[in-house]
Amino acid sequence: DWTMGAYRDEAIAKIRAQVGESHVICGLSGGVDSSVTAVLLHEAIGDQLTCVFVDHGLLRQNEAQEVVTMFRDHYNMKLIHADEAELFLDELEGVSDPEVKRKTIGRLFIDVFQREANKIEGAEFLAQGTLYPDVIESVSFSGGPSVTIKSHHNVGGLPEKMGLKLVEPLRELFKDEVRALGHELGLPASFIGRHPFPGPGLAIRVPGEITREKLEILRKADAVYIDQIRKHGLYDEIWQAFVAILPVRTVGVMGDGRTYDYACALRAVTSVDGMTADYYPFSHDFLGETATRIINEVQGINRVTYDITSKPPGTIEWE
Ligand code: XMP
Repeated sequence: DWTMGAYRDEAIAKIRAQVGESHVICGLSGGVDSSVTAVLLHEAIGDQLTCVFVDHGLLRQNEAQEVVTMFRDHYNMKLIHADEAELFLDELEGVSDPEVKRKTIGRLFIDVFQREANKIEGAEFLAQGTLYPDVIESVSFSGGPSVTIKSHHNVGGLPEKMGLKLVEPLRELFKDEVRALGHELGLPASFIGRHPFPGPGLAIRVPGEITREKLEILRKADAVYIDQIRKHGLYDEIWQAFVAILPVRTVGVMGDGRTYDYACALRAVTSVDGMTADYYPFSHDFLGETATRIINEVQGINRVTYDITSKPPGTIEWE
């Protein structure tokens, strides 16, 4: 008779046995896996845990604040909030190639993480939210195709470089089990049910050059879109939804005036694992209402399109 409650107790005992009196560092992104890892570790070892949240300035509206409030104020965890928006955005200035964006962000992310982690005295372990499918994938793909579609953002190799041992308490779990464990640990449903969010963040939803202005417009449009999806009760039916701001301005008319603002694309897909995906069949009423809201509420956007590409041949993200 296997229950998540029993799994949790067992996982806590294992963590205590592995870690002893040592200090553990945990990279926190605000995603489900790292959040559950952090809360589980915190239950097991309390103040022997320090979380590092690298804020690259490419997060969604209010996201950094939500993460800090949840983990520092609500859970009382030791949390380093590395607010490095300036560093990342300065370095990304003028970059429009998707792979250069990804590699730049990946490199800076590791630099910042390493610098912050080095400040934590006596740290011997690094906690990671590796899931069972990640473990399998790295084995079964080892002889697979060698085409890289996108360089994924990860911190693989970092523990050895930093002389840290790994703690991976989710290694035996599938995603739905991680969610159940998060629920067992008292994480709010709003955190557990969140759509996936990529490591490079909004950078890959701004095809072309990233500017602070575009990011600001994108954040607002995305917030309205997600609000619409929630209001219509569709959030949990959709695997992932977001807005991309397009690198083109178009002519529009509003009141008696001409506008010349950015176009955006709405994306929403259903999927099981992100490897393949179908676009979500919104009703025309929903799409029309959402377009009207975005154009009325978000200054800087005057045209809204809906991306009806499935994966393959598209990818879920635009870059
Ligand atoms: P694509 O765009 O390749 O995305 O169809 C599949 C899923 O992966 C997410 N994604 C990432 N997640 N680091 C991540 O942690 C990344 O670099 C990255 N790139 C894409 C994407 O949001 C989708 O859920």
